[in-house]
Amino acid sequence: MKVLLNLRKLAIDQLHEPIDFGDVDEKLLPIGVFDSGLGGLTVVKQLLLHLPNESIIYFGDTARLPYGTKSILTVRKFSLQIARFLQNQGVKIIVVACNTASSLALNVIKENTAVPVLGVIGPGVSAALRVSKSKSIGVIGTTATILSGAYKKVLKKLDPAVNLNSVACPLFVPLVEEGWERSDVTELIVSKYLDPIINTEIDTIILGCTHYPILKDVLHKVVDNRVIIIDSSIETARQVRSILQSENIQRPKRSKPTYKFYVSDRPQRFEEIAERFLGEPLPNVKQISLDDYR
Ligand code: DGL
Repeated sequence: MKVLLNLRKLAIDQLHEPIDFGDVDEKLLPIGVFDSGLGGLTVVKQLLLHLPNESIIYFGDTARLPYGTKSILTVRKFSLQIARFLQNQGVKIIVVACNTASSLALNVIKENTAVPVLGVIGPGVSAALRVSKSKSIGVIGTTATILSGAYKKVLKKLDPAVNLNSVACPLFVPLVEEGWERSDVTELIVSKYLDPIINTEIDTIILGCTHYPILKDVLHKVVDNRVIIIDSSIETARQVRSILQSENIQRPKRSKPTYKFYVSDRPQRFEEIAERFLGEPLPNVKQISLDDYR
């Protein structure tokens, strides 16, 4: 009931057209997931595996991608708009499936949102701490994520003794978007970026960007399987499951879940590339404008 009441309050607070949620059972409400584009689909994939009964609403801000080169203020503004949109759709939890938005905007989203909000930084860090023996961890991400120091902050809070080496890899996102994950050029670029951390004590690398799981094969090749690569999407899905369990808002099995995918630019390209992220085609992606969610 708490989520439902909060949703009603929010619809009134924000002076948007009040939404009548009627007598909706909050267990049936969807999980809201967003990313700057399609990288967040790596999280959706894990949610589908870990929570097959749950409905999902996904928003990819394809018109304003990339976030990884933008300022804090801009990323916060965009993220808040999306969080408002998702709340107006009646989601029961918001998953910020974008490392840049999680690094720069998670607290602001939490402060302005009436439902539980989970980012991808905490789950990635927890997974890395569980497996690292040398206590020397690497994180790779967009320029904005690395400059924000968000990973360091979360990691040091959980284990002050851990040594963290961060590397911004701004070329990885365009390489993935181009579909070049198996190209020689990509292997060369991956080697160049990882060079400063490859022959160090690091035994674990966190993929601090939603696009990077697509590069897992080439990353494994470059680090020669000596280093454990952490894909935070798996741990994120596990943490969503435990939040839904502790709040007692899991969707019961009795009806089929629904999936809705929205983007802010034309859907065709999203649909094409989405197949690589999800491993299956994504029909019915709708384009919407966030202009009303200021
Ligand atoms: N989704 C972003 C992230 O995880 C990568 C793409 C972008 O720069 O917008 O950091």
